[in-house]
Amino acid sequence: MKGIILAGGTGSRLYPATVAVSKQLLPVGNKPMIYYPLSVLMLAGIRETLIIGRPADLPRFQALLGDGSQLGLAISYAPQEESRGIAEALLIGAGHIDDDPVALILGDNIFHGHHFSRTLQTEAQEVDGCVLFGYPVPDPERYGVAEVDAGGRVTALEEKPVAPRSNRAVTGLYLYESGVVDVAKNVRPSARDELEITDVNRYYAERGRARLIDLGRGFAWMDTGTPQSLAQAAQYVDALEERQGVRIACVEEVALRMGYIDIEQCHRLGRAHSQSAYGRYVLGLAP
Ligand code: DAU
Repeated sequence: MKGIILAGGTGSRLYPATVAVSKQLLPVGNKPMIYYPLSVLMLAGIRETLIIGRPADLPRFQALLGDGSQLGLAISYAPQEESRGIAEALLIGAGHIDDDPVALILGDNIFHGHHFSRTLQTEAQEVDGCVLFGYPVPDPERYGVAEVDAGGRVTALEEKPVAPRSNRAVTGLYLYESGVVDVAKNVRPSARDELEITDVNRYYAERGRARLIDLGRGFAWMDTGTPQSLAQAAQYVDALEERQGVRIACVEEVALRMGYIDIEQCHRLGRAHSQSAYGRYVLGLAP
């Protein structure tokens, strides 16, 4: 399975913080935001990932992550000239996806919870149509909203409905079969002039080929779009890391645990950041 991180957009709700820096490079706790979606893909077993961002931001992502080989990954980059919709990521990424299934994740979505990596690895093994991840929210009108039957099959999907028929938001992580590029090619711009990912997902739902996995209570899915939600996400990460003495979305640790790098490489990566507590944590994994 290939991975795509969509990390474009203007981040305008965070202005002026995002005038000169991409939102997905802002820190959440002690690490850049993009580490969170990248570690989700890594935990799913995905090693070939395309990062899509605004043309001006790509050199900064590259400065941070390079070609990914230091983490045992293959990371490539592609520009999105304008924010024409999330589904455009599948068109921009068509060559990268090739004939493989793909996981698309939004660069500002933070997921954290028990057994998540196991769920991801199981689901990534075989995708028929698409797999979505649902999360109960008090304000579903802000999201894509799904209705599902008792077996978890999606029966209806709406993007930002005025009168939501469930409180189940569709999160920004989508697993697709290899034919998804052709589905995305047939999506037409919506009333807000975007290629909606919900239209791609609805194609599969209408054919009984969209499943939704409830992330449910006890799981954290966080938004980082506003100064308040960004601060809350950072507080959550700090509190958990402090209390448990572990790091969330430490990409070096994930790479080590998944067997993408060996202990010597982990040590090298830790030493490179040994001035910070983050780097010392990585060093501690490979003393
Ligand atoms: O967060 C989950 C929600 O994401 C889903 O429930 C919705 O179905 C889905 O449409 C999307 O909702 P938003 O409309 O709120 O997404 P937003 O426009 O905020 O974009 C999400 C992220 O993707 C944001 O960091 C910017 C980035 N983005 C967005 C678009 C439209 C791009 O990089 N390029 C784009 O063209």
